[in-house]
Amino acid sequence: MEAILDQTPEQQAAASATFTGTLTDKLKEQFEAGLLSDPDLKHDFTIAQPLHRYTDADHAVWRQLYARQASMLRGRVCDEFLRGLDTLGMDADRVPDFARLNDKLMAATGWQVVAVPGLVPDEVFFEHLANRRFPASWWMRKPEQLDYLQEPDCFHDVFGHVPLLINPVFADYMQAYGQGGLKAAGMGALDMLARLYWYTVEFGLIRTSEGLRIYGAGIVSSQGESIYSLDSASPNRIGFDVRRIMRTRYRIDTFQKTYFVIDSFEQLFEATRPDFTPLYAELRQQRTLGAGDIADGDLVLQAGNREGWGDSDDI
Ligand code: PHE
Ligand code: FE
Repeated sequence: MEAILDQTPEQQAAASATFTGTLTDKLKEQFEAGLLSDPDLKHDFTIAQPLHRYTDADHAVWRQLYARQASMLRGRVCDEFLRGLDTLGMDADRVPDFARLNDKLMAATGWQVVAVPGLVPDEVFFEHLANRRFPASWWMRKPEQLDYLQEPDCFHDVFGHVPLLINPVFADYMQAYGQGGLKAAGMGALDMLARLYWYTVEFGLIRTSEGLRIYGAGIVSSQGESIYSLDSASPNRIGFDVRRIMRTRYRIDTFQKTYFVIDSFEQLFEATRPDFTPLYAELRQQRTLGAGDIADGDLVLQAGNREGWGDSDDI
């Protein structure tokens, strides 16, 4: 199974331990290379993108993944994403220089990509988003990890997440999410907010006049899930509903059992605009739903046939 995992607030909570206690191999490598010695790693966890460290193999991996996804995504990904790739002039043949992307991004929506060594703690992540900065892992996965890796790498973060930041409504949603995260952190509601990120920013689908399309970065950067999320009879596809999503657990080690479908980015932005304070209190009283459950009141676009779901646990 392929799935590219990412920094949800929940995972970051676990990952933030990496900076104080045990390090992931990826971070250890960077410390040992002297890349993360004190003056380099700023308190916001950003570093200058170490362009000189990309090897020919890194550029080749980028080129391969880019070619594979860019051709496969036509007719599968939403137009806004393709327009974003185009406007950014995202490099097809090598790992992009963030500074060059930032010229275009800044002009379009005032967003920036900043380089980080890997997952950053929750509040650091939210703080960046709230200030229209997207923290992207600078390093590339290895050739043997084309289809699957556990941590978000540069391809997932940059190819997956950055193109939609060209869209003004989505750009505002991401900033609002960061602000909402800072607030939710003080309210013990990060689990609920993490589910929203997961089922929209990472694994969201959108309904268009031409049919269902992908917009979630976790799908966009995965060859297998780009096909599965739209074509497979196995998963549920359910109309977007904030309260429903915030109760729904998810999968981090397999394709999703359920995808939630928005009608427009405006819908996403408007539905998440109200103050969530009362909602968190209310939802806290309700039981959570399994990743593959169908609940009363769901707008079911497709009830999955549950093939291949297995019985491992949802998060
Ligand atoms: N409106 C939410 C709140 O008040 C913040 C939020 C916005 C959360 C967008 C997620 C996405 O907490
Ligand atoms: Fe991601």
